[in-house]
Amino acid sequence: MIDRFDRKINYLRVSVTDRCNLRCFYCMPEQGVDLLKHEDILSFDEITEVIKIAVELGFEKIRLTGGEPLVRKDITELVKMISGIKGIKDFGLTTNGILLKRFAADLKNAGLHRLNISLDTTDPEEYRKITRCGELKDLFEGIEAAVKAGFREIKINTVIDSSSDEENAQKAAKFADDNGFKIRFIRKMNLEKGTFWNVIGGDGGKCSICNRLRVSSDGMVSPCLFSDEGFNVREIGVKEAFIQAINSKPEKGVMSRTHKFYNIGG
Ligand code: 5AD
Ligand code: SF4
Repeated sequence: MIDRFDRKINYLRVSVTDRCNLRCFYCMPEQGVDLLKHEDILSFDEITEVIKIAVELGFEKIRLTGGEPLVRKDITELVKMISGIKGIKDFGLTTNGILLKRFAADLKNAGLHRLNISLDTTDPEEYRKITRCGELKDLFEGIEAAVKAGFREIKINTVIDSSSDEENAQKAAKFADDNGFKIRFIRKMNLEKGTFWNVIGGDGGKCSICNRLRVSSDGMVSPCLFSDEGFNVREIGVKEAFIQAINSKPEKGVMSRTHKFYNIGG
């Protein structure tokens, strides 16, 4: 579908849970957050239906996000259901990597094409500080499992303060380089203040070529990360929610009070 500013909207990011097994300081408070109620979270059938209709409307690229998508129970079942939909050209998942050791091969077999893995540093102490509880060893083992599973492409996401010259970012860059992964540097954003930047090495944050819509785990189709508008697939129906979201997609993002990285998945 084409929006009011002549952008072809063909990329859907679907958050499958607002839960996470880490507590990255730029994303979540240490004590965690108020979680959505179980009955408000879309079921696998509902998510599959949402994506099926999206594909009918011209979406070609699907990405699962969270929270942390791998903490959603039976995630590989969902991946299987989605990869059975005809017309998806590119099917990815963004993960913190901690659970990949267990899931990488199953995800690949279930039909997932790509993985984006978050890695902000290769220093175990720094990693623990950033994630508040993460063990870098688990992440490395997860990445190794992903490579073994034979994914089409693995990208590294690295959150930075302001520059890719920072020590942690340089360490992440070296790791990516040594292993043949592409790396994208994401400057820390503040959704409420509306501070956002282009993703270095990616297309995120470039409003004029933005091709995305997002669906939250409770079924709100959102036109923009930096906007509070949302259209509930349960209330108005999936197709209508997509049409309204596309028709209200702003030319440029401004700010959002309701979106959080853990409920919209970045
Ligand atoms: N600013 C920028 N990126 C963030 N992410 C989480 N919170 C923020 C923030 N405040 C990133 C994660 C991950 C992706 C899903 O979003 O690090 O790479
Ligand atoms: Fe979890 Fe990702 Fe948020 Fe870190 S950034 S707390 S891994 S959802």
